[in-house]
Amino acid sequence: MRMESVNPAAVPQRRLSNGMVIPGIGMGTFGNDRYTPEEVADAVYGAIKAGYRLLDCAAAYGNERDIGRVLSRTFEEGIVRRQELTVMTKLWNDMHGQGDVLVACAKSLRDLGLDYVDVYMVHWPFPNYHAPGARLKGRNPDAVPFSAEEYLSVWRQMEHLVDMGIVRSLGMSNMTITKLEQVLPLCRIKPVVLEVEINPTFQQPKLFEYCIRHDILPVAFSPMGSPCRPERDTEEGDVVTFEMEELQEIARAHHCHPAEICVKWAVQRGHVPIPFSVYPEEYTGNLRCTTEDFLTDAEMEMLQKADRNARLIKGKVFLWEGAESWRDIWDGEDESNKL
Ligand SMILES: NC(=O)c1ccc[n+]([C@@H]2O[C@H](COP(=O)([O-])OP(=O)(O)OC[C@H]3O[C@@H](n4cnc5c(N)ncnc54)[C@H](OP(=O)(O)O)[C@@H]3O)[C@@H](O)[C@H]2O)c1
Repeated sequence: MRMESVNPAAVPQRRLSNGMVIPGIGMGTFGNDRYTPEEVADAVYGAIKAGYRLLDCAAAYGNERDIGRVLSRTFEEGIVRRQELTVMTKLWNDMHGQGDVLVACAKSLRDLGLDYVDVYMVHWPFPNYHAPGARLKGRNPDAVPFSAEEYLSVWRQMEHLVDMGIVRSLGMSNMTITKLEQVLPLCRIKPVVLEVEINPTFQQPKLFEYCIRHDILPVAFSPMGSPCRPERDTEEGDVVTFEMEELQEIARAHHCHPAEICVKWAVQRGHVPIPFSVYPEEYTGNLRCTTEDFLTDAEMEMLQKADRNARLIKGKVFLWEGAESWRDIWDGEDESNKL
């Protein structure tokens, strides 16, 4: 097992619409209700040492203070300088009210020990809060469907953070084309990234193309198909990404775990995967595999055709009274997802 660190300069880079350049792969930091904040923070420390320069954080992950401590340590130890890191974090659903966004951002900054974040995202496009570790019955009875007006009131506050200089750029997450069409024309400051589920099982080609056309870089959460996702996001019959035959065949040809094929496919396709792992051999391997032994055009095509159009992170816990199924969250777009 090769455990030596990876030269960050060898990792593919992406240019955002506002000119910022970010790494083509980042480290996820959601412990999936399985790993403690300390374990995740240790992994972040190890990942930065291993050569990661992009972190995907969120207030909702409940570990920004722990991550902040290891960030300070990496700066003090001279492992990395602040300006060499891209730190993304997200506004949680319980902070959508008037005046809340600045308070939430200030808390994330304080917890992370930073005076600015590189990308600040709206985590979900509605104020439907659920408690940490929630099960399905932990749903919020006040949950409401998406409203462009509500979203834009949040976005105006996000734009103000850029004006203040505490956020370099803005991002959206868990949006659909239907929702983007309603709000994008009204954004004074456009999002530079859209973070959504993308993996070989659920490739979202239409949304991907839409983002590219609008100069928004797709960031892929759950790029491995989130094998350890919380129970609230699983359903009987879900596809297990690592068990997909096409993925296994290509992994055998490259003598690696299917996880690394997920990463290679993402980076070569052009979206930014943010895989999570607390194990040094896994997160180091995930980074290194972006720098060598690339997939062939035939392998890329085989993976494209392997798309099961099967969403894994369904967001059921955010459903509102009166909604018929989790598909309502996604505006029924999954049915017509193929190009
Ligand atoms: N914006 C959003 O709403 C949203 C939603 C979900 C996630 N996210 C972000 O996306 C990140 C990643 O998503 P995720 O954690 O759901 O799923 P993921 O990255 O698809 O899957 C993570 C799991 O894959 C396994 N894995 C990773 N690398 C591996 C390797 N090289 N070999 C074997 N197994 C490997 C690990 O399992 P073991 O632990 O068993 O080793 C790990 O727990 C999160 O941490 C978070 O930052 C954002």
